[in-house]
Amino acid sequence: MGRIYDATWGRAFAALYDHLLEGTEEAGLRDVRRDVLAAASGRTIDIGAGTGVNLELFPDAVTDLVLAEPDPHMAKRLRQRLSESARQAEQVVAPAEDLPFEDSSFDTAAFTLVLCTVPNPRAALAEAARVLKPGGKLLFVEHVRSEDPGLARWQDRLEKPWRFIGDGCHCNRDTVAAIEAAPFTVESVERGVLPKSPPIVKPLVRGSALRSA
Ligand SMILES: C[S@@+](CC[C@H](N)C(=O)[O-])C[C@H]1O[C@@H](n2cnc3c(N)ncnc32)[C@H](O)[C@@H]1O
Repeated sequence: MGRIYDATWGRAFAALYDHLLEGTEEAGLRDVRRDVLAAASGRTIDIGAGTGVNLELFPDAVTDLVLAEPDPHMAKRLRQRLSESARQAEQVVAPAEDLPFEDSSFDTAAFTLVLCTVPNPRAALAEAARVLKPGGKLLFVEHVRSEDPGLARWQDRLEKPWRFIGDGCHCNRDTVAAIEAAPFTVESVERGVLPKSPPIVKPLVRGSALRSA
């Protein structure tokens, strides 16, 4: 978003993030995360891990956990949470578009509330496909463009101010279409709402996709 923005609001956003989401997590988002992440297994990467809200939600079937987060303010909070957790994980400071891992080196990749924010979702999905083994699982929980044309129009109108408030978050992305256009076969998509959130970020999708062979 720019150096001054990142050093001021970007820093404050990371500091406030858990607090801002607390009501939403308690009203159901944490349960959605847990349900979706329950399908993770083997070597798993949480891409854009933020402050580490998913850390305790990965099941025991996850044998190795990598947390990738490029933002230095988020990464600092992630490091702190990891140091206080019994859960072992490797943290890397890396963007979704350029992950420092070999091809086909993960069984599962997770995006939660990240494909709304990454500068290049197409490149991020291509990179997730690259690091996943063929048949590997992509798990996602994302707020998306509304299927209601009226609300979608408001998402388009308010995209810029929301992006400014939301540390780069785009409220009008059709993320399911982006996943379908990437080298994945969608297994399941469920639509719902992000509880206790403004209307333009309410439409939520959760689901899974398999890395094409
Ligand atoms: C709304 S937060 C979500 C954090 C966390 N995944 C969650 O579920 O709460 C968006 C996250 O995407 C991260 N992000 C922004 N650009 C990114 C990129 N290019 N690659 C990976 N993550 C990115 C941000 O730093 C932030 O941590």
